[in-house]
Amino acid sequence: MSGLKNNVTVRYVQAEDREDWIRLWLKFIATYDDPKLPKGIENANFDRFIDPQVKMWSAIAFLKDDSTGREKAIGFTDFFIHPSTWQIEDKTYLNDLFVDDDFRVGGVGRKLMEFVYNEADKLGAPSVYWNTDHFNHRAQLLYTKVGYLTEKRIYRRKGY
Ligand SMILES: CC(C)(COP(=O)(O)OP(=O)(O)OC[C@H]1O[C@@H](n2cnc3c(N)ncnc32)[C@H](O)[C@@H]1OP(=O)(O)O)[C@@H](O)C(=O)NCCC(=O)NCCS
Repeated sequence: MSGLKNNVTVRYVQAEDREDWIRLWLKFIATYDDPKLPKGIENANFDRFIDPQVKMWSAIAFLKDDSTGREKAIGFTDFFIHPSTWQIEDKTYLNDLFVDDDFRVGGVGRKLMEFVYNEADKLGAPSVYWNTDHFNHRAQLLYTKVGYLTEKRIYRRKGY
């Protein structure tokens, strides 16, 4: 897998990427099996990504096949910015990160996170944060390299 990332390009989704993004999204959410996920959320998400009025975005990692010149979508990340009373500038929340099974541990997850960091800087919202399940050790192998673990716990309104 080493060298994989050198053949990978990350870019914002465009309207024609809907099928690729939804294919990867369905694989991503299959691992969570969340009964609260609304029906049709995939298209609602994608509509928002390509709506210039909505400050929520997605980027896809494309792997270039040198022999055919074709590109294959192999991962994605979704993120949005929001204001905070604790700082003047907006913050960036990294909502989702996924790399397709066959392409993991090749630096693609890191590349997607670096894309978000760069865009967050450009958006004036460099403080990027995210959360993960305590048992998601695989993701944390990456997160400890690109970030640090905070002391916070996440609480939620009951019923939500
Ligand atoms: C989490 C996920 C996105 C990581 O993507 P990835 O492409 O495998 O990650 P990368 O290869 O860029 O980075 C992994 C880093 O952790 C290290 N790492 C990953 N797996 C490792 C392992 N099994 N043993 C040792 N180190 C490992 C790598 O060395 C790398 O560090 P480096 O950049 O310094 O070399 C991917 O595993 C995934 O999609 N998982 C399922 C969905 C998920 O859990 N998403 C996160 C939700 S919060």
